[in-house]
Amino acid sequence: METTLNNETNNTNTSLKLIEKYNEVFQGFSKLDRDERLKSLIKLGSLTGEDVEFLKAGSPIDIELAEKFIENVIGYFPMSIGVATNFIIDKKPYVIPMAVEETSIIAAASKTAKWLREKGEIKTEIFGQDILGQIQLAVVKDFLAFKSKILLHKEKLIELANMEVGKGLVRRGGGVNDIEVRHLKRPDGKDMAVVHVRANPCDAMGANIMNQICEYLKPKIEELTNEKVTMCILSNLVDTKVTRAKIIVRDVEPELAEKIEEGSLFAELDPYRAATNNKGVLNGIDPILIATGNDWRAVEAGIHAYAARDGQYRSITRWKRDGKNLVGLFEAPVILGVVGGVTKLHPIARMSLRMMGIETASELSRVCAAVGLATNLGAIKALTTVGIIEGHMKLHIKNLTIGAGAKEKEIPIVQKKLEEILLMTKRISLHNAIEVLRELRDSKGASSPQETQV
Ligand code: MEV
Repeated sequence: METTLNNETNNTNTSLKLIEKYNEVFQGFSKLDRDERLKSLIKLGSLTGEDVEFLKAGSPIDIELAEKFIENVIGYFPMSIGVATNFIIDKKPYVIPMAVEETSIIAAASKTAKWLREKGEIKTEIFGQDILGQIQLAVVKDFLAFKSKILLHKEKLIELANMEVGKGLVRRGGGVNDIEVRHLKRPDGKDMAVVHVRANPCDAMGANIMNQICEYLKPKIEELTNEKVTMCILSNLVDTKVTRAKIIVRDVEPELAEKIEEGSLFAELDPYRAATNNKGVLNGIDPILIATGNDWRAVEAGIHAYAARDGQYRSITRWKRDGKNLVGLFEAPVILGVVGGVTKLHPIARMSLRMMGIETASELSRVCAAVGLATNLGAIKALTTVGIIEGHMKLHIKNLTIGAGAKEKEIPIVQKKLEEILLMTKRISLHNAIEVLRELRDSKGASSPQETQV
């Protein structure tokens, strides 16, 4: 008993020390140049010297590897990858790698996480462990007879699937757990049957293994029932494994808390707003999925389907006041893996998991949900106070400046002028950038800028 308590105290102390070191390293992180940022991440133990060499070399990845990932390879698409800072999730500090093309997502996530680090808390959990596979029988002659046959032999079917296909999963504590039969009435009045196979994929996303399990069961089901299977495929609507994140922000200014609650209510009631709200949540999730080599289309499909599960498309987040606190909830399936697919093959996916110190799919799923919810908070806060343009366009100015064709020495001057215009007019465009650059060059007797679409 005493040993357990001592261990717990040691763990808490280690965790506090880690958080302290983490806070120190991320003080002013965004103001550092890239070399200094990389040094900080080495200091924190998030990156190794080898990682830094790899990143500095422009991350060249063997083209042979691409041939293993996809077909008709012509090269790689290099996407920018950055880190979101200040995230403390379930009391563990995280450096969050995010591969994304949109400006301001990382800055906004880090800024919100800083607010939460100082005045809040992020907690996460997962309900359920099974993913779903579907075996469709487009028309069955006698649905009730079909159903009772399957249910009568369900244990045997599960046993066979686990023995023949799911052996590896069973060894790791997973495997097929259940088989259910669903009925769908067809427009022509006939009966369609769908067999749902539930399996725990452990740390894999599970698409491949589930498809194999379903295809293995197809002839068995046909033989057993004398009915014809039409198709077998996993379902991305995994309401059997749902990730939840909860954020509590303490002592929120009442006016701000009310605005955020009202902003959230808009997304709860209106599908037009819910779509944009959920896109904002995915701004926090997709970049982590990409950085870790996960199938973001599957997660997107699952989240959107879950958002519409009661017949109306709704927000997957809710913000409510609770006394002086503001409480936010995220609830949706975030089905991903840390083994299988390209996760263990792609060097950046491996590095990203290492940076977060993540070894299980469940932890990665929880981190995604937490970052998605924090990103959502940042967006609603901005939208209901200063508006979206300020944060967004300030960072977009750099792109506009480059898009207008500014050279290295001209960039800071053009940026500064554009910031002034933004402050005055609350609007900024590529046209402004070109005009500012033209004036600058005219004043120096240089040639006019060339427009590049941004
Ligand atoms: C833009 O990428 C995301 C937002 O539109 C999200 C939202 O409206 O909540 C700002």
